[in-house]
Amino acid sequence: MNESKNAPILVPEAIAALLDWYAANARDLPWRHTTDPYRIWVSEIMLQQTRVEAVKPYYERFLTAFPTVRDLAATPEEKLLKLWEGLGYYSRARNLQKAARVIVEQYSGKMPADEEKLRKLPGIGDYTAGAIASIAFGIRAPAVDGNVLRVLARVSGSRADIALQETKSDFRNALRAVVPDRAGAFTQAMIELGACVCVPNGEAKCSICPLAPRCVANEKNLTSELPVRSAKKPRRIEEKTVLLIRDGDRTALHKRPEKGLLAGLYEYPNLPGHLLPEELPGIIRQMGFEPLQLTRLEDSKHIFTHIEWHMIAYAVKIAPEFDGYHPTSGFFFVRDDDLRQNYAIPSAFSAYSAYWKKGTNQ
Ligand code: ADE
Repeated sequence: MNESKNAPILVPEAIAALLDWYAANARDLPWRHTTDPYRIWVSEIMLQQTRVEAVKPYYERFLTAFPTVRDLAATPEEKLLKLWEGLGYYSRARNLQKAARVIVEQYSGKMPADEEKLRKLPGIGDYTAGAIASIAFGIRAPAVDGNVLRVLARVSGSRADIALQETKSDFRNALRAVVPDRAGAFTQAMIELGACVCVPNGEAKCSICPLAPRCVANEKNLTSELPVRSAKKPRRIEEKTVLLIRDGDRTALHKRPEKGLLAGLYEYPNLPGHLLPEELPGIIRQMGFEPLQLTRLEDSKHIFTHIEWHMIAYAVKIAPEFDGYHPTSGFFFVRDDDLRQNYAIPSAFSAYSAYWKKGTNQ
């Protein structure tokens, strides 16, 4: 991985330059005002696959609702998922709660100041364990996420495939050997450099980079070629027809299965394939409803890690229904205000949530 096997991946002068740069240039982010391990943990989980600007409001709301590990452990899952609504990757929220319960039971509600023990908690992998250990506890642990991998691949001039576990593990070991005493600032500085300076897609800002004087990619003009990442498998495309079935100010919902994609969240009734308008009345009657009016809504797409949903949709106005669970279809109807406050609908459906939020009664 490294050009010369025994050379440190970052020499002390480079680390000093990086820490100086960070002290002068760090963005002021809410989780940088604390070393409370719980808060650092929540921020790191939210920041996985999610932009800083998107995380900020969720971070504040989450910590207001659940100020301690014990609060998080004790909350009903529905409330937790409602708070997470729109942030995506809901297994992150479930794992946070699972881990909170372990921390209450095994560690009296205090997060362990130990990289290995952190790593054993649900939802905490190598990166997150290293980030919490270093940022919250000052432990000299490495935290290697996608940003940091890119910085290290460029600095060392490595052509190893960063999609491989082996490469990640090699870089983690190389970084572990050089993490300085100011481990928390170092971790944040590496992340910050990757996010703001050593950015992907050939746009690295080497002229302002504190590591540029000791960077192989900068020296040999390889920044646009590094890091090397093998192509990902193409995502599977699933076509769907979403039905926004409305009865006055109530919308039909369905709870997704407890396992798999968007497990346990609520969705609008939907069917595989792109259905034609003339196919729908029969299908809707089979569900047990009398359709009065069909309106085609906009198409929308949602991209998950391994799957893409390509959705078409119809608003379906139906003849008035009774309250509650609908036995023929397995759907139930929820009033707009109840839906707004109590049900987490994934953002995959946000194009269609906009309709009832606007109060369209069609
Ligand atoms: N991405 C992951 N961790 C982060 C942090 N602590 N600050 C900013 N962006 C991040």
